[in-house]
This record gives sequence, structure tokens and C-alpha cells, in this order.
Amino acid sequence: MPKIQIVTRDGTEHEISADPGLSVMEIIRDAGIDELLALCGGCCSCATCHVYVDEESASLLPPVSEDESDLLDSSDHRTARSRLSCQLNLTAEMDMLRVVIAPED
Ligand code: FES
Repeated sequence: MPKIQIVTRDGTEHEISADPGLSVMEIIRDAGIDELLALCGGCCSCATCHVYVDEESASLLPPVSEDESDLLDSSDHRTARSRLSCQLNLTAEMDMLRVVIAPED
């Protein structure tokens, strides 16, 4: 079972094992970390599941879709490392993926 590392807004690191197929947003929520509002439930229409992904992990992820990019543009905190965590479904190759929860807009 792959593990991912989540860094919450206070800098605390959490290592979480999760089933492939779940989205990173679901994994964070199911771990009891309540910093992501994820208001749309993963429908790619709210941008409240914003995270940053380390550059070295970026190649493991699916490309940013046009909808995801448009939503990320609505954030004041978008960077080159920004992703919407509901759009990142965990695969075995993503073992030890490290994501940092972005500041709240
Ligand atoms: S949960 Fe709404 S865009 Fe990800």
C-alpha cells in the first residue's frame, strides 16, 4: 500500500498509507486532517483542495487539465507546484508522494 506525506499549514508532517485509486483529497480528509474544505466533494469546481507538490514528484502525476488550471487561477496562492488534490488519484508509483497543503484563500 503506497504512503504519502502530507504537510499541514503549521509545518507538521503526516505519513499516511492509502489504497490506490483514492484521490489525495480523500486520503487527507479520511486521515482526519480538516484543513481542506473540498467544498465540491471532488468535482473540480471549487479549488478548496489546493496543495503543492514537490517538483521531483510532478512527473508521477497526471497533467493539469484545463478545468483544473482555470480553478487554480482563482487562487491568490497559485505557484508552479500547485495542484487540486481531488484530481490526483493515488497510484502505486506515487509511493512517498509529498504534498503541502496550500494557504487558505
Ligand atoms: S474538492 Fe473542489 S476542486 Fe477539489
